[in-house]
Amino acid sequence: MQIIDGKATSQIVKDEIAAEVTQMKAKGGKTPHLAAILVGNDGGSETYVAAKIKACEYVGFKSSLVRFKDDVSEEELLAKVQELNDDDDIDGFIVQLPLPKHISEQKVTDAVDYRKDVDGFHPQNVGKMSIGSPAFVSATPQGIMELIKRYKIETSGKHVVIIGRSNIVGRPMSILLSQKGYPGDATVTVCHSRTANLKEVCLQGDIIIAAIGSPEFVKANMVKQGAVVIDVGTTRIKSDTTKSGWKLKGDVAYDEVASKCSWITPVPGGVGPMTIASLLQNTLKAAKKEIY
Ligand code: GUN
Repeated sequence: MQIIDGKATSQIVKDEIAAEVTQMKAKGGKTPHLAAILVGNDGGSETYVAAKIKACEYVGFKSSLVRFKDDVSEEELLAKVQELNDDDDIDGFIVQLPLPKHISEQKVTDAVDYRKDVDGFHPQNVGKMSIGSPAFVSATPQGIMELIKRYKIETSGKHVVIIGRSNIVGRPMSILLSQKGYPGDATVTVCHSRTANLKEVCLQGDIIIAAIGSPEFVKANMVKQGAVVIDVGTTRIKSDTTKSGWKLKGDVAYDEVASKCSWITPVPGGVGPMTIASLLQNTLKAAKKEIY
């Protein structure tokens, strides 16, 4: 069993971006600028946004954080989205999800200018990605694709079993891995809460991608010997042994599954750090007007 080290890989990606930003600035170019809108004070969202801002500083991007209380109206939030759309200094921005129940996430996502949609959530980007045209690809699937590439994991003709059909991870992942070329050319099965014989389906997977948000859902008896297992889960579990009072648990029962795998991503330190690296890659592409 070998570990796919997302922490180390994200560090390499961030250093590549930092080097490019240094060059851009030396040539008198614009400093890439990412903005984030954060509504309310959900612990997970606070942590993720803080990590995104810190990563911007590391690579030499400008960053802006716009905060709203969780009783902000949809109208007020949409007005801020419009303001960021119109702000020429901002290359890309994200609205951290989830949003409070009284606000339509779809409406807000749709309101983001697709050329600044570095989260890759806008229908324009989702549509372009699905037909294989240049687009901003959502950060987690893009981060997984980067790990597959950098670790030279074979995907052609492989059976990929994805557990979870979310718009952010499962569905885009299934589209990307079934596309022509590398990483791709895989036969993909998307499993979800209504899938019959889930265990038997998982056992057929040469590559399993677990993205359901259910801690330690994937057990050893669901994994074929020699499979590649990619764990997207990041559920916060209360813990007495950490300073923060919580720890992250993946969707895979790592201790029992790891020894059966050829490759596995740990949690933390697997897919999570790559998500941030991908967001930075997308922001750099936006600043360079590489896609639109
Ligand atoms: N919430 C969970 N993951 C994400 C993400 O990738 N982007 C945003 N904006 N919100 C999220």
